[in-house]
Amino acid sequence: MPGHLSGKVAIVTGSSSGIGQSIATRLAADGATVVIDYRNHPEGAEETKKQIEAAGGKGITLQADVSSLVDVQRLVDEAWQQLGSCDILVNNAGIEKSADFWDVTEQDYDAVLDVNLKGVFFLTQAFVRHLREAKRPGRIINISSVHEDMAFPHFSTYCASKGGLRMLARTLAVELGPLGITINNIAPGAIMTPINKKLLDDKPKLNALLKNIPLGRMGMPEDVAAIAAFLASDDAAYITGSTYVIDGGLTVNYHEQ
Ligand code: BGC
Repeated sequence: MPGHLSGKVAIVTGSSSGIGQSIATRLAADGATVVIDYRNHPEGAEETKKQIEAAGGKGITLQADVSSLVDVQRLVDEAWQQLGSCDILVNNAGIEKSADFWDVTEQDYDAVLDVNLKGVFFLTQAFVRHLREAKRPGRIINISSVHEDMAFPHFSTYCASKGGLRMLARTLAVELGPLGITINNIAPGAIMTPINKKLLDDKPKLNALLKNIPLGRMGMPEDVAAIAAFLASDDAAYITGSTYVIDGGLTVNYHEQ
């Protein structure tokens, strides 16, 4: 829907690659000015900006590590300063680390929880404080995972973070509703992105996974971006506290072998 987000400003964290890059380009194509946040890959962020501009959209790049409270405050302050407002926040940045539960280190636990949960928590807080002060409505969209609900053995830190996002969205929906701010999660299944590189390189594992997906393919980042665009739009004004699963049927597919 070109143009339906015109006049809006959207921050998309982790938009130098993968799902974040796709959401950033989609929201820009729909008319929003996008703040392209990145942690370590300025070249990826520049690529996102190039894609946005090639399609006639507007974006700025800002470096911020979402696990740092100082960085997330600066990210929101700069977005307001440079662009005059900030209406949509897409908490997309996320990482995962695989380990047997009994081998998980404190370092890995902190790395995953700091980005996936603490980062979302305090960036959302900074975003909400600005909106509240300006008495403006807003939209928050968290890129969670099917693993906010479904077990994922050997990824206990990831599951703990995504489960946390599930309850965070539900609780904040209640607390932020009176401010006119909605919050929803998108729960992607297996999507073709760099986070799945190991899986994509492991043909037997990949084929076993594909057998569990009724639609018979991995999802594309654009599939996820389409729901983000919907949740950011006026059509989604009455939706809050929900999770939108986009997984090709993976989570509902239990069958006897
Ligand atoms: C994870 C992927 C996994 C997929 C389906 C995603 O949240 O990031 O590693 O393949 O869920 O299990």
